[in-house]
Amino acid sequence: MTKVLLTGGAGFIGSHTGLTLLESGHQVVVVDDFSNGSAEAMRRVAELAGLGPWRQASTEHWTAADPEGGRLTLIRGDVRSPQDLDRAFTVDGGDISAVLHFAGLKAVGESMTQPLRYWDVNVTGTVRLLEAMGRHGCQTLVFSSSATLYGTTDQVPIPETAPLQPINPYGYTKAAVERLLTDVAASAPGWRIALLRYFNPVGAHPSGRIGEDPNGLPNNLFPFLCQVAAGRRRHLQVFGGDWPTPDGTGVRDYLHVMDLAEGHGRALDLLLAEPPQRLTLNLGSGRGHSVLEVVQTFEATNGLRLPYTVVARRPGDSAVSVADPREAERRMGWRTRRSLADICRDGWAWQSANPQGYRSAEKEPIGELIRAQHGS
Ligand code: UFG
Repeated sequence: MTKVLLTGGAGFIGSHTGLTLLESGHQVVVVDDFSNGSAEAMRRVAELAGLGPWRQASTEHWTAADPEGGRLTLIRGDVRSPQDLDRAFTVDGGDISAVLHFAGLKAVGESMTQPLRYWDVNVTGTVRLLEAMGRHGCQTLVFSSSATLYGTTDQVPIPETAPLQPINPYGYTKAAVERLLTDVAASAPGWRIALLRYFNPVGAHPSGRIGEDPNGLPNNLFPFLCQVAAGRRRHLQVFGGDWPTPDGTGVRDYLHVMDLAEGHGRALDLLLAEPPQRLTLNLGSGRGHSVLEVVQTFEATNGLRLPYTVVARRPGDSAVSVADPREAERRMGWRTRRSLADICRDGWAWQSANPQGYRSAEKEPIGELIRAQHGS
């Protein structure tokens, strides 16, 4: 049974991956500052994995376990804080085999108005994490990179060898961290690093218990559309009906978050099993769907109507972004298994059961849900 550390493990992708790793027999330590993650998500991950009850082991540190050795430990902490990271690496006897680094800021528009914050959290946070890994003798890391690195390329589908040409501060920070990790891997023997370039992760766990819960107005199509369906937003705006695509709307490679979570499990297994290496993989389905196809599939799958209007293009968007995912299949036998209809069904199961996201949840301890989500 290996023990792994998930930074940002209380967020959308981290929580689904944490559950997948617990179910495949790993012990999981999560460090999260709850700036965009949820203690309620952690409570539900433990519930889905059959762990519990929660116990407070020290200030800012909670654990849910089972008699067979399953264990989820939650630490409130910031990846930029050496003290918080030391606590994460030494909790419950230490011995972390690998880190999955999800913690980071990810809103493109916000990155243009707050570049310092993005460089600090995304880049400085990774530097601090690597320093902590050095102190604690851990050299295995899976990093959440992004297809945003490919910029507005016309290449379809996009292989990992395509030029990197990010076009906003968020993208520059992801490119900088990829460069940093490449330099670190080359600097000393023993590093095992996977750079996973996500395309468009959407959907939710099929139970409807965990899902995406963005702060404020969603930037992305799928959570926005779910909130329209739930009656939280009046209508969807489709950004551009004049793209050079079959129906004029933008085409993206949407992948189910559970497929993405399983991709992390594969990458981790591969890194731990093979000799040290640096791996760069696209994680996408290899299939493109237009905005209108997503709307229509959501309506047909869930038997409801989504009001929308077609408006001007959003600055910085491209017509098509679709992964060439063959390298992930070749290297780790991974491909997406779930369809767009599965995504729409599971995403709606989550949103309809939790119309206000985790905020509508009943309050229960884990530090009274981390003092009602951060210090209040
Ligand atoms: N869209 C709409 N209306 C909305 C939101 C989006 O029509 O309200 C359209 C966009 O124009 C685009 C498609 O839906 O054609 C998908 O847009 P998203 O914002 O959901 O996703 P993006 O492809 O723009 O970006 C996402 C992540 C980035 C990541 C990128 C990788 O937000 O962080 O995928 O390609 F870098």
